[in-house]
Amino acid sequence: MNLKHQTLGEFVIENQTAFHNSTGEFSKLLNGIGLATKLVNHEINKAGLVDILGGVGDINVQGEAQQKLDLVANDMFIDTLTKREIVCGIASEEEESFISINSLDFQNKNKYVLLIDPLDGSSNIDVNVSVGTIFSIYRRVTPEGSPVKLEDFLQKGSEQVAAGYVIYGSSTMLVFSTGHGVNGFTLNPAIGTFYLSHPNMQQPEDGEIYTVNEGNRDFFTDGMKKYIRYCQAGNDDKSPYKARYVGSLVADFHRNLIKGGIYMYPCSAMDPKGKLRLLYECNPMAFLAKQAGGGESDGKQSVLDIKPTELHQRVPFFTGSKNMVKKLESFLEGE
Ligand code: AHG
Ligand code: MN
Ligand code: MN
Repeated sequence: MNLKHQTLGEFVIENQTAFHNSTGEFSKLLNGIGLATKLVNHEINKAGLVDILGGVGDINVQGEAQQKLDLVANDMFIDTLTKREIVCGIASEEEESFISINSLDFQNKNKYVLLIDPLDGSSNIDVNVSVGTIFSIYRRVTPEGSPVKLEDFLQKGSEQVAAGYVIYGSSTMLVFSTGHGVNGFTLNPAIGTFYLSHPNMQQPEDGEIYTVNEGNRDFFTDGMKKYIRYCQAGNDDKSPYKARYVGSLVADFHRNLIKGGIYMYPCSAMDPKGKLRLLYECNPMAFLAKQAGGGESDGKQSVLDIKPTELHQRVPFFTGSKNMVKKLESFLEGE
């Protein structure tokens, strides 16, 4: 079959043996995520048409105002995956603690837990700018058949069995990896089918885009300030880099994955631990970057090697073209 015509469903069936087991549980999970994505996509696309824009006045566990679509996306992913009984637990940015999936007639024999940022870049919803969903999948470490525990979620990123994101952009794409490279699928909205459009995605080793919220520059460390000046300096060796910052991690990551570049959300005097969440923002993106030949770091080490201590833990995060991440680390050395 011409790869360009392969659907997500066909891809999952064809690659089932590479998907960690042959029981079909993992394939079912990927298909469940694809379905939830289409439901969320439908809501996002009609956001301008119905009265679902704007804040609900609630503050989530991170102390941030929740947008209505944050909650809609959260409910859709949790509902879709719970009803299909294909994971044993879910942790979400929008839920203070993890959810253990149990029901009277269901023995909860599933192996996988899902961690999710249901709607990433939600401050961009009201202005029709790309938003996303980020997800991370682990095999549980506690015995099958028992309720999940916190330790099932607090695993190092290097233990992920799969990770991915959805970008609700000028087109909707699902990009994921099961540890065998990165593949991107584009939704044909007329028939509700994802097609393999970006097989075996590779991040260029070098790039000319730097992505950071420069409004925070005065609060950055000296090393960060110097690296930003390096990005902006043109000389015989290099032209100044282009500054690009959407403010949705998914959109910024996706662009730099395809074009080459570096994404940075450092710690600062305002966010001493960084802003992005390790478990459902940084780890899945780092897993994808690594699978695509890119780099990722918290400034000192791979974020994938950090042993998490809490569900909503924040870390400084840098990811992008391998050589750019290395260069940045040299500026941060000793800090
Ligand atoms: P979320 O909408 O899930 O809370 O994530 C927002 C994150 C990320 O998407 C983005 O890169 C970053 O916050 C933007 O932060 P600033 O507005 O501080 O630049
Ligand atoms: Mn986010
Ligand atoms: Mn979010």
